[in-house]
Amino acid sequence: MSMSQLPKAELHLHLEGAAPPAFIRGLAKEKSIDLQKIFNGDGTYAYRDFAHFLTVYEAACTVLQTPEDFYRLTQAVLEESASHGVVYAETFVSPDFCGGGDVVAWREYMAAMQEASEAADRALGITLRGIVTCIRHFGPEKAKAAALCAAETRGDWLVGFGMAGDENTGQPGDYAYSFDLAREAELQLTVHAGEWRGPEEIKAALDDLRVARIGHGVRAIEDLALVDRLAEDKITLEVCPISNVTLGVYPALSAHPIENLRAREVPVTISTDDPPFFHTTMTREYEALAQTFGWNEDDFAELNQNAMRAAFCDDETRARVQKRFSQ
Ligand code: ADE
Ligand code: ZN
Repeated sequence: MSMSQLPKAELHLHLEGAAPPAFIRGLAKEKSIDLQKIFNGDGTYAYRDFAHFLTVYEAACTVLQTPEDFYRLTQAVLEESASHGVVYAETFVSPDFCGGGDVVAWREYMAAMQEASEAADRALGITLRGIVTCIRHFGPEKAKAAALCAAETRGDWLVGFGMAGDENTGQPGDYAYSFDLAREAELQLTVHAGEWRGPEEIKAALDDLRVARIGHGVRAIEDLALVDRLAEDKITLEVCPISNVTLGVYPALSAHPIENLRAREVPVTISTDDPPFFHTTMTREYEALAQTFGWNEDDFAELNQNAMRAAFCDDETRARVQKRFSQ
């Protein structure tokens, strides 16, 4: 079986960050918004480093203005993912970019994404679930509004709450109110941690936000007692190898700790994060991992099992999707 056809599950995918540059340029043209400066001459996204990446990301989001725009975005992203064999994905989406944190507006945006997701499930056999993310550098007050949006719309489709954005802003505990609110609404929790800051940040995320999964979490490798804790408590890491290398967390895939974390029995999974920004796809992730670490179809089957075990969907959906991996 070719690598692109191998069935895959992906837990860490930012919906806005997965927007193909041509899609964003098309919307910019329709709305007469000048976005020239965020693109390279060849049409790819242009950014210098992580801080600038966040700025460019937010500039791209300015053209996403209506629920219809998010319907089309979801459709475009799922068509691309399905073409890489993805049969199950979870996507981060931020109410800050969908009505500015207003619950009434958010409901309409979410309905549009859910509708596009259900159409793609029927047409392409790809199942998507949503995770509301607050944006760390927008601060704790905005995070509360995002958590309220999530709590109000929790259901079959909207299953989780998390936090993305600049890990160098504040402390995880600053956002505990929002995570408590989300937990009380029976949302499942994940947070970006240990991408830019070290083990202390991951410990704070576990202790103060009580999450089931960590976005990235790769710098746990710098503290082996923490690695043991992740393995023991089965805290799943949403690892995004090519994102880490492209943003300079590690100089090369061969220096990436995923192999080591896996050897120490941490449940690891593979995701693309923001695929067009990092010139990646799920196929490219698998090919690079196969080339660098010699992983084969059995290894990828194990990583997909890790992902489906840690998926935030209901058990009926989990069982239905798991069948796709054993066919
Ligand atoms: N938002 C989108 N991608 C992100 C990443 N890799 N880290 C933090 N915030 C993000
Ligand atoms: Zn991310």
